[in-house]
Amino acid sequence: MGEIELNANGLNEQDNITNVEMSFDEIWFLKNFIKKYNPKKIVEIGISAGGNTVNLLKWKDKNAKLFSIDISTTWYRDNTKLSGFMADQLNTKSNWTIYRGFDYLDVYENIGDNIDCMIIDTTHVMPGEILTFLAALPHLKDGCVVILHDIHLNMLRFSNNSFSKTDLAAFCTGLLFGGVSSNNKFTLKSENVSNIGAFIVDKNTRKNIKDLFHILCASWHFFPSGIDFFEYKKYIQKNYPIDCYKLFEKCLELNANYFNANIYKTAETARIDIINKNNKNNSIEIKDCPNHINVDFPDWFKMNDGEGAVLETKIKSFDIKLKCINSGLLNIYLRGPDVRNLRMERVPSYVNYKKFKVNNETIIKDKITCWHDDAYIFKKNVNNGEILEIHIEWEYYNSPTIPFKGSMKEFEDSNR
Ligand SMILES: C[S@@+](CC[C@H](N)C(=O)[O-])C[C@H]1O[C@@H](n2cnc3c(N)ncnc32)[C@H](O)[C@@H]1O
Repeated sequence: MGEIELNANGLNEQDNITNVEMSFDEIWFLKNFIKKYNPKKIVEIGISAGGNTVNLLKWKDKNAKLFSIDISTTWYRDNTKLSGFMADQLNTKSNWTIYRGFDYLDVYENIGDNIDCMIIDTTHVMPGEILTFLAALPHLKDGCVVILHDIHLNMLRFSNNSFSKTDLAAFCTGLLFGGVSSNNKFTLKSENVSNIGAFIVDKNTRKNIKDLFHILCASWHFFPSGIDFFEYKKYIQKNYPIDCYKLFEKCLELNANYFNANIYKTAETARIDIINKNNKNNSIEIKDCPNHINVDFPDWFKMNDGEGAVLETKIKSFDIKLKCINSGLLNIYLRGPDVRNLRMERVPSYVNYKKFKVNNETIIKDKITCWHDDAYIFKKNVNNGEILEIHIEWEYYNSPTIPFKGSMKEFEDSNR
């Protein structure tokens, strides 16, 4: 079946164009499907500032449910704002649920079946949108309209003369759009290549789904953190034929090995190791310790020059008091959690420490990014019985596209 090119028809004044990562014609394309199909259950995956969420809330039938999901809690362009913050500011937000900091598979049970419109606009690099679509398909109605943005981002930036190294890899959405089976595919009539596409889920989409599993076996650009691949395995096994599952399992295994990554979700935990060093009897006591902090004195931390404690917590701001047993040199290590890959080697799971105070003296005031093997170390001479008040604020380093291979610096350099 040939695809149909649609002629854009213009937006009107009520349509939002602020902080929407789409051209005017693409916003019109999205609006066209909402107005034409009048869906009753819309799921938007990848919301950024929420510029289009604002539009969806305005365009949808007031009884239609809208679910907006972003893997990042904060806006990826300015982490002082929440993902979708623009929609929060609207007065009318009926039947809207937003999930910040989640992948679709984390929340699909809450959203349920019978989805009749889905908008996917996430990473554009493998395995991004293909993985998301495979997760969603079992819950999409026959007749569901799926709108994909940035189907040819790699080509678009080239023609715009703003091409960077990572743009070469931005073809995942195009592979999904080209590879999915549907009797109805739509693009936008454009002088350039259409960068937005839509298709209608029908019985061929499900019948030929193995094609997409084959496409998923193309080299991945990154191994997404924040996604629970252990859950994906169970889910694909439950919802797809065994030959699809086998392809998925092999492809996942290969990429986890290639990127030296763990298939389990990155732990969103801060870890602080504390040791008061001098002799075997040196130690610390944690006083007034909040319940959410897990404190352990593990055997491996019983050293000849003192016994150390390991603190782990998911709470982003906390205070503790330490009592030093015997005088010595106190060492506080601000780390990330101990996350291992399939070969049980440690892999980076980053934490930003935003504030660190000892006895009200500010030690860290600008963000410091750490992981388990690259800790920030604070040292201080202490006396027997001395009590120190510690204040820590941190955040999970929110970067769903960090490749696990190579250092953070290499990653940042490659994106300049
Ligand atoms: C290109 S922006 C979305 C733009 C938005 N749709 C618009 O039209 O303005 C991509 C967003 O996808 C999010 N993202 C990346 N991977 C995701 C995933 N697996 N699930 C949900 N959101 C994801 C990113 O955090 C980012 O906010």
